[in-house]
Amino acid sequence: CIFVSREGFPESMYKKLEEVGRVEVYRHGGSPWSTRGVPKSVLIEAARRCEALVIFIGDVVDREVLDAGAALKIVSTASVGVDHIDVEYARKRGVVVAYTPYVLVDAVADLAVGLLLAVARRIVLGDRLIRSGSAEAVWGSLMGVDLRGKRAGIVGLGSIGSAIARRLAAFGVEVVYWSRRRKPEAEFALGISYVELDELLATSDFVIVTMALTPETREFFNREMFQRMKRGAYFVNVARGGLVDTEALVEALETGVLAGAALDVFDVEPLPAGHRLASMDNVVLTPHIGSATVETRRRMAELAAENVVAFFKTGRAIYSV
Ligand code: DGY
Repeated sequence: CIFVSREGFPESMYKKLEEVGRVEVYRHGGSPWSTRGVPKSVLIEAARRCEALVIFIGDVVDREVLDAGAALKIVSTASVGVDHIDVEYARKRGVVVAYTPYVLVDAVADLAVGLLLAVARRIVLGDRLIRSGSAEAVWGSLMGVDLRGKRAGIVGLGSIGSAIARRLAAFGVEVVYWSRRRKPEAEFALGISYVELDELLATSDFVIVTMALTPETREFFNREMFQRMKRGAYFVNVARGGLVDTEALVEALETGVLAGAALDVFDVEPLPAGHRLASMDNVVLTPHIGSATVETRRRMAELAAENVVAFFKTGRAIYSV
């Protein structure tokens, strides 16, 4: 069987999957795209019976789940991030991990630029002040900063980082990047420059995080990293909350190292009620909506299914890790 961890994905996804097996859909209850995962016991039980698991972020496929999967051949996630899956252990067990890159690039890049504008121009704060009836004092004088002439440092340049760089060029922003692997072709195509991480942190007015979360990059942005940033920089994260030591981020905001932050992702999602970040006027928060457009999510769901179909028909997923 093919286990799908959520009901309510686009119908086209289930139809495609039916081409290659019997589809079992778990009644998750919430939105299919909720980052609240299905219970571990459900995944273990599914892995015991099925050859394929089709999941979303929040559905944690760890050793325990993989060990239960005697006949399990493929785990296909409708996401580009795979940090909810123990990829290394899956490889050891010969289980293919399929994912959905590229199709969400534009949606996430749009959101990153939207967040940057929102925090730099204080758009959300302005909205909040008007709605609360307390905007009189700032009417016409709520100051932000220009994008033009500033430097943005993209940390972890993949296809999403490149799409952000392309957009920022239109705003007159100079873009530099740091990535574990240098990408000369992107430098040439996008007119951006590679700099060492130290230089990126020390000179960027906007630091934009697009790197993958792996065991090596967990809490990459720690206290020491924030201390190395240009004073008054803005921090934008559309990748994963686990890349950031949230306490250190809060401290950097409170001490003025950072002028502001715009965050779509958090180490704990949903962000616990009453979190300090939520009380800060210089912080913009969105609930992990980088890829959440109707068109993009449909493509992600379909591609997650196409990966399974291709795997069962040809022995290879379209995109595997
Ligand atoms: C992804 O695809 O990894 C996003 O974070 C969720 O859509």
